[in-house]
Amino acid sequence: MIDSIKYKIQICCGTMCYIMGGAELHLLNDHLPSNLKDKVSIEGIPCIGKCDTKEKHHPCVKINGEELNNATSQKIVKQLLTLENNDLL
Ligand code: FES
Repeated sequence: MIDSIKYKIQICCGTMCYIMGGAELHLLNDHLPSNLKDKVSIEGIPCIGKCDTKEKHHPCVKINGEELNNATSQKIVKQLLTLENNDLL
């Protein structure tokens, strides 16, 4: 892992997540503020098992291991900015 990487984004690439919006999350890098781009790594991971419940969680991502359900690029950026701001306090 590169030293500057602080946030590891893992996007579920299972079928349900992919068709429920995960496909567009792979363009996340285009939505990242310039001050975060160098600090974020983005990778795809296999189904994380949220398909087994009746609740609608898709698409799912993990940010440093923490699950974020019903993810959108906006939600991910918001979460990253929150983490970054907490870190600067
Ligand atoms: S496809 Fe994403 S949790 Fe199963």
